[in-house]
Amino acid sequence: MSIVHSAAAANPVLEPVLTVENMVVAYGSAAQPVYAVDHVSFSLRPGEMMGVIGESGCGKSTMAYALMNLLPSSARMVGGRISMQGVGDISGLSEREWEVIRGSKIAMVFQAAQSMFNPLMQLGKQMKNVLNAHRVNVAEGMERGRQLLKKAQLDPDRVLRAYPHELSGGMRQRVSVVFSILLKPDLLILDEPTTALDVLSQNTVLELISELRRDTPVTTMFITHDFSVVASLSDRIAVMYAGKLVEIAPTKDIYKNPQHPYTAALTRAIPELDAPLTDLVAIPGQPPNLADPPPGCRFAPRCPLAIDQCRNEDPPWTTDAVNNGVACWRSGEQPEVMDVE
Ligand SMILES: Nc1ncnc2c1ncn2[C@@H]1O[C@H](COP(=O)(O)OP(=O)(O)O)[C@@H](O)[C@H]1O
Ligand SMILES: [Mg+2]
Repeated sequence: MSIVHSAAAANPVLEPVLTVENMVVAYGSAAQPVYAVDHVSFSLRPGEMMGVIGESGCGKSTMAYALMNLLPSSARMVGGRISMQGVGDISGLSEREWEVIRGSKIAMVFQAAQSMFNPLMQLGKQMKNVLNAHRVNVAEGMERGRQLLKKAQLDPDRVLRAYPHELSGGMRQRVSVVFSILLKPDLLILDEPTTALDVLSQNTVLELISELRRDTPVTTMFITHDFSVVASLSDRIAVMYAGKLVEIAPTKDIYKNPQHPYTAALTRAIPELDAPLTDLVAIPGQPPNLADPPPGCRFAPRCPLAIDQCRNEDPPWTTDAVNNGVACWRSGEQPEVMDVE
């Protein structure tokens, strides 16, 4: 795969499409909250793709669901602010207002296993319903849908007549991607869109995403537990660990010069950005139980560089002039110590 970073993303001066400030999301009761997203702040620039990586259970999906205002009833956003270009603060909108925003402003593609489709309705009817719900001219919208399906290497007639189960998992996921951009959203969230697929289908979905972004570079957040999936597609990478953001940097810096030991461990197994996909080097241990996280830095119990300070004090999130950042007491010392070449 070649690197297809978008030109717009190189310009950090443009007003962000999405700004998240101090997002906190808790599961469980107010008396015993489990913080799955803990003071997360970042912004997305027009047209950029940001990869969000981290092991399973680190809060990536919870953050995505909070951005879509689709949290399950057991969770709530208890702190922070989400604002979108042209809309302003969206964290306080009513469900009615969200119905307008979801799909047209922010769209999401879920893991293939959790299909977004109604199993009992032909896909063409579902496409019409989406267009009607958003008061889009149906003839024009369906024509756009057909063009997008062709781009996805799918036969529009066949797909629009089909029920979801009549398509393979990979085809269905490509149709999900088509539905997600049907209304030309300003922000696209992809949550492990290829995780449940075989390698061949994974590649067709990744190719579709990269092809669509070549035409119109929609601002995209691509969530995955596998760095190699997003390494060649993303302009920047955000790394999450145990509910916290631990690093954000341009993809090449994340790979060549990781500032956080967790980032280094996640990316170490990949020798070159263009190399074939490889498995991650296993990091000994596992993320903490968020119901009872360790004091200090949450990665300290697994970190080869941890000192006493790391085990006692939570490292602050420190950002640079263009909103990249890191939360690590030892980030300055890292490159030499962690050099594995
Ligand atoms: N339905 C739930 N009820 C209670 N806690 C949950 C639920 N779903 C997720 N969590 C908590 O939130 C954490 C983050 O989950 P999730 O956002 O799904 O992580 P990721 O997408 O990174 O795998 C989990 O480790 C767990 O502690
Ligand atoms: Mg997830």
